[in-house]
Amino acid sequence: MSGFKTIIYEIKDGTAYLTLNRPQALNAYNIRMRDELYQVLQAIKADSDVKAVIVSGAGEKAFCAGADLSEFLTAPSPVIARQVRWERDVWGIFLSIPQPVIVALHGYVLGDGVEIAMCCDIRVASENVQFGTPEMGLGIITAAGGSQTLPRTINRSYALDMLLTGRWVKAEEALKMKLVNRVVPMSELMPAAESYASRIKEFDPVAVRYAKQAITRGLDLSLEQGLEIEAYLGKRLIAR
Ligand code: COA
Repeated sequence: MSGFKTIIYEIKDGTAYLTLNRPQALNAYNIRMRDELYQVLQAIKADSDVKAVIVSGAGEKAFCAGADLSEFLTAPSPVIARQVRWERDVWGIFLSIPQPVIVALHGYVLGDGVEIAMCCDIRVASENVQFGTPEMGLGIITAAGGSQTLPRTINRSYALDMLLTGRWVKAEEALKMKLVNRVVPMSELMPAAESYASRIKEFDPVAVRYAKQAITRGLDLSLEQGLEIEAYLGKRLIAR
């Protein structure tokens, strides 16, 4: 897959590398990026040769500074701008990727950037990371699933703390909140993400997919239903 303008997509040794690539605009999420991500995420989902995915942002300053404000503010109205974004369920696809998704976060991680990170499974951050959700200040609420994914990843009160105040959360606090799994120096960011991917790729890819499925699907169910899913997947794995 090639010809993308806002992302870079490569596969090396069973790892799909998905890089947000608008560094001149701090990798702000625009409609073109939405369309390109939609295409690539569908391809990843269908590609059994992809055993792990690493998402990152190009440039030194940011993983992603949120929605592209120039596009957003020139749209006919915020309501229509949001409708355009909902036309393609990028976030639904992101959350349904069966392979483990590792995200390498650096610099500014704002708005949609936080929400992209929440669609991923393992979050590694550099020491200079800064999270923020500026939506309240713009008179809007999250539109990429953040109101649901953030409290499921951290907890209700930390999520409300972030979403309602829009305050910056830096590396040390992000680790404390469990917003990220690990914080490393910038020079070790991609190696750390790759080391997660390498470790995971050593295992049976079907077992890995089932483990992810049991956890992610089970979280939205009762314990009883979650245990049923676990038992079902466990039996399917053995019966292969
Ligand atoms: N949409 C479009 N362009 C953006 C952007 C966004 N969300 N965030 C940054 N950019 C662009 C800037 O316009 C600037 O472009 P220019 O060089 O052509 O002027 C470039 O990226 C660099 O940003 P700049 O503001 O100069 O960097 P900074 O280090 O001074 O500040 C931020 C960084 C992230 C604090 C600041 O860019 C910012 O507040 N961005 C908006 C964040 C936001 O509200 N996102 C929406 C969330 S819903």
